[in-house]
Amino acid sequence: MTPAATRLPVVVLISGSGTNLQALIDAAATGQPFEICGVISNRPAAPGLARATAAGIPARVVDHTRFPDRARFDDALGDGIAAFSPGLVVLAGFMRILSDALVNRFVGRMLNIHPSLLPRFQGLHTHRRALEAGIDEHGASVHFVTTELDGGPVIAQARVPVHADDDEATLAARVLAREHELLPRVVSWFAQDRLAMRGDQVWFDGAPLRRPVQC
Ligand code: GRF
Repeated sequence: MTPAATRLPVVVLISGSGTNLQALIDAAATGQPFEICGVISNRPAAPGLARATAAGIPARVVDHTRFPDRARFDDALGDGIAAFSPGLVVLAGFMRILSDALVNRFVGRMLNIHPSLLPRFQGLHTHRRALEAGIDEHGASVHFVTTELDGGPVIAQARVPVHADDDEATLAARVLAREHELLPRVVSWFAQDRLAMRGDQVWFDGAPLRRPVQC
């Protein structure tokens, strides 16, 4: 078990059910070298907020509908994040596009999990688009966040097969189960100082990462 004082403080941003948040909470509870110091949702009704509260983690809402424009929402969100003094910010099902100003405030210490094998299927409805494309392999990616939406350098990926009888729900569930392993793993690497972004390049264990780690 990593001593509490040396665990990396992580803020998690959510918009919805928060099952990836739960995976991080569970991993932190089993001695991984990070702790969730705060959770922020842009949606007051996000079920994930209750997961934070149940784990004794401070949960805040920064409701985007209460701001006149993206710039002022992002200022408030950035201030909300900074108030927790995190070493890492994790977007785990956070469904707002971040302005360049906010990304640049946390660049190099902000990760996102995206439900596709990037660079394929950036953006929304990834499972539907994967089925429409007729591919036989799909998955999830964790990447550093840059100002390019879903375009930051990919750190690691988890792959799943696409079955002939899959629909969006069955495929999403198969991917999500792998996300729950992938995300805590990458966050632990970051917490152990094994990961960094220099320019647009991921460094892993002191060397440039040529292709995403396959988990
Ligand atoms: C996940 O599939 C994540 O990759 C995507 O949104 C979903 C969030 O699920 N960005 P949850 O809120 O963690 O349950």
